[in-house]
Amino acid sequence: MLNVGIDIGGTKIAGGVVAPDGRILERLRVPTPTDTDALARAVADMVAELAARHEVNAVGVAAAGYIDRSRSVMLHAPNIDWHNAPLRAQFEALIGRPVTLENDANAAGWGEYRFGAGRGSTDMVMVTLGTGVGGAVITDGHLLIGANGSAAELGHLRFVRGGRPCGCGQNGCLEQYASGRALQRELSDIADAGGVGARVAARRNAAGIVPGADLALLLDEGDEGALEAVRRVATALGEACGAFQAVLDPDLIVVGGGVAELGDALLEPTRLAYDTSLPGFGERPTARFVTASLGNDAGLVGVADLAGLRSTAEVAAA
Ligand code: BGC
Ligand code: NA
Ligand code: ZN
Repeated sequence: MLNVGIDIGGTKIAGGVVAPDGRILERLRVPTPTDTDALARAVADMVAELAARHEVNAVGVAAAGYIDRSRSVMLHAPNIDWHNAPLRAQFEALIGRPVTLENDANAAGWGEYRFGAGRGSTDMVMVTLGTGVGGAVITDGHLLIGANGSAAELGHLRFVRGGRPCGCGQNGCLEQYASGRALQRELSDIADAGGVGARVAARRNAAGIVPGADLALLLDEGDEGALEAVRRVATALGEACGAFQAVLDPDLIVVGGGVAELGDALLEPTRLAYDTSLPGFGERPTARFVTASLGNDAGLVGVADLAGLRSTAEVAAA
């Protein structure tokens, strides 16, 4: 049975037809319209195009934000203009078939758990570091949803009391210290401070931000400014992971999203901060840290799989 997964990102919508083993048979991609009606139409068009060429069973849509327990309503989206938006009904009206909605990071975490870096784990935490910081929690093989559907919003763990303001209305959230934007902020601070920041400053001044490839190069060359910026973000992430360990006790922590492309340069200082902040360190088993393996496909694959599983569960319950 083939399922369609659609992942709505800040800049592009990615869609694909996914086989039961997680393989993507066909994929489509369009820029994300800013207008929310145009966005819904773009999603519907994508599904129609894929369904014309494949026998499609279920449809899943992933997007950033807090979704109600019935996986229908986008209650709150820290970085998009959705407020109590009945996305599922809107999509179903345009698509003409049942749709399941899922949080983007939950979808990515589920994708990694089933088909990627998380295979073989029973209790997994995934943290996605992009524009925002997302989370997914799998406990004993189940995706944690929460009583109101909004569990695993790991990016909005209050990380610094009285810290930087956040799009969720609070302040001091992990998202403000470990996202892609936070990394750019650290790079900028280091660039502006002079000294070891000279080479970072040169790159930043040329492009406005420090492009990922430039950062990777600086890190490779052992540039102290670049290393320090990554260390700051990794320290925030690692300390937060120590807190997640205290609550959830995962065997595996998967780090994904654009920032995770830094690989070991990010994971090593993250692991160090985790060890240093972990309650009971040295006398308890710890989690393994890995970077995500499905890249940008994780959300699309994960939400397609969830849609398939949920449609089967509904048939069984009927
Ligand atoms: C949102 C999450 C989302 C994450 C990544 C956060 O700001 O609250 O729902 O998963 O960004 O997109
Ligand atoms: Na989540
Ligand atoms: Zn927040």
